[in-house]
Amino acid sequence: MATDVVALLADSLAKTGVEDGELSYKGQGRKLDDAHSVEEIVKEIQDFEGLQALRLEGNTVGVDAAQAIAKALETKSEFQRCYWSDMFTGRLRSEIPPALNSLGDALILAGARLTVLDLSDNAFGPDGVKGIEKLLKSTACYTLQELRLNNCGMGIGGGKILAASLTQCHKKSSTEGTPLSLRVFVAGRNRLENDGATALAQAFQLMGSLEEVHMPQNGINHAGVTALASAMQHNTGLRILNLNDNTFTEKGAIAMAQALKYLRSIQVINFGDCLVRPAGAKAIAETVSEGLPILKELNLSFGEITEEAALAVAQAVKGKDQLEKLDLNGNCLGEDGCKALKDAMESMNMGEHLGSLSDDEGEVEDDDDEDDDDDEEEDEDEVDEEEAEEEEEEEEEEETEDSSSKKFSTPPSAPRPPDVSSFLSFPSPDKLLKLGPKRALLIEQQVDVSDSTKTAEAFLKIASVYREDSNDVKDAVLDSVDALLKKAFSTPSFQGYSFVSALLVLLGLLKSEDKVRPVLVVPGHLQALEHVVRQDYFPKENVAVLEAFMSRNNKALESCNVTKNCLLSTLQRVRSES
Ligand SMILES: *[C@@H]1O[C@H](CO)[C@@H](O)[C@H](O)[C@H]1NC(C)=O
Repeated sequence: MATDVVALLADSLAKTGVEDGELSYKGQGRKLDDAHSVEEIVKEIQDFEGLQALRLEGNTVGVDAAQAIAKALETKSEFQRCYWSDMFTGRLRSEIPPALNSLGDALILAGARLTVLDLSDNAFGPDGVKGIEKLLKSTACYTLQELRLNNCGMGIGGGKILAASLTQCHKKSSTEGTPLSLRVFVAGRNRLENDGATALAQAFQLMGSLEEVHMPQNGINHAGVTALASAMQHNTGLRILNLNDNTFTEKGAIAMAQALKYLRSIQVINFGDCLVRPAGAKAIAETVSEGLPILKELNLSFGEITEEAALAVAQAVKGKDQLEKLDLNGNCLGEDGCKALKDAMESMNMGEHLGSLSDDEGEVEDDDDEDDDDDEEEDEDEVDEEEAEEEEEEEEEEETEDSSSKKFSTPPSAPRPPDVSSFLSFPSPDKLLKLGPKRALLIEQQVDVSDSTKTAEAFLKIASVYREDSNDVKDAVLDSVDALLKKAFSTPSFQGYSFVSALLVLLGLLKSEDKVRPVLVVPGHLQALEHVVRQDYFPKENVAVLEAFMSRNNKALESCNVTKNCLLSTLQRVRSES
């Protein structure tokens, strides 16, 4: 999973280049009120020939500032992508529509052809939708592929305006022979409710081009769900359908099950927390068993599903060789039901794909009070376990960090030559030096480079003992990581992307489905990385991937901010030189 993400990212980076045509002020927390405050941005926009994308997320832009930016955009005919989520923090609601309007007008005037419009996390409400109405109906949006409006408080009214705008855009663009073909639609947490969802469903049906639809948490119940179901039926290229946390009940779920029969490309179905109930789950199971050949993820958690219906779902995923996750947590299986479900999955050799059942609500007949007690106890146990594990880890880190730790060094009476595996288990600068001048070779021989996770772990172990103030240690670390990675990257079976994704997971920058736990990041990790990315053996496409992840704000690296910034600027330099 994590590898997929990195490979995809690398792929898209390779295609577009990280900032090919892109100007970014992302996450800078700038408070941009008037024209004066955006002088620098305006100048940079003006000077950027062929500007295609502008990132303004994570700043706050007032009406006058937006107008000044808009003016600069008026000549940008190649403009395509608006990354404008979270750009009105703390603004009055009334400021947002005029700000959006002037930006939209500029894009229309420029003759821009948009592919991405991201306005998520702007709490603009129904009126904010009016601010983009004109843009959405214009030629600038005939080419739109991704529309992201997550968490905007659109409400029923906003949903209807949005639907009407998309409908009109589709009509007008169709008469020109290039019908609007939206691929990605995101509008979670917007209180769209039945009427908003139903209006949008009609627009979706017209377009028929959707591949990803995310509308979780919108207070939609069976009427709206049924409307969406018949719309989805006409979007046969749909891959991802996320309606988490709406209220299907049997009716909605059965309608969805019918619609899914037409969707052979579907990979992710998230109907978690949707109250699909046993009858709904069984209908969905039937559809799954008849088709959906490349299903990857099915979430029917928290749906009041009983054991019998859950077992039908399990039977239905038999033979789905792409399946990665079946989530049936939080249903009403009871202890025996949970066991039966696990057994069923295991008997199909799919045990590892079944998600946790720790929040099972117990069989329906059971006394509710008793269940609640059980749940609480379980939860507490879990928390305790997690805490214990964390403590263990911390202890291990401390031991690892402490080079003079007596506990693990060999007793003086029986001097043994230091060996690589003891260094890798509990690394210390001293142990690394004691491996002698052949240490790089010894390490390289010890590590199985066909296993990318092990290689990443070994790299971080060696890097963790890096010391800026000791040239001996520094050289020993850099020689060793060079030898290791040079060998790895020149081994034909070595998977570069897996290595990078394992590294990102271990550094806490990328979530993993596997049991890999992040390490406690120390500056040495990043310093050694800064060295290796400059070496010839290190593939340049991985530099771009690392840069993309390092440039995000991340807690895992907070304690190493200075080193992180050095690494980031090195990554940027290396990439621009290549
Ligand atoms: C399935 O949905 C539940 C309920 O919303 C959610 O907590 C869980 O994370 C989802 N599972 C997966 C695998 O996404």
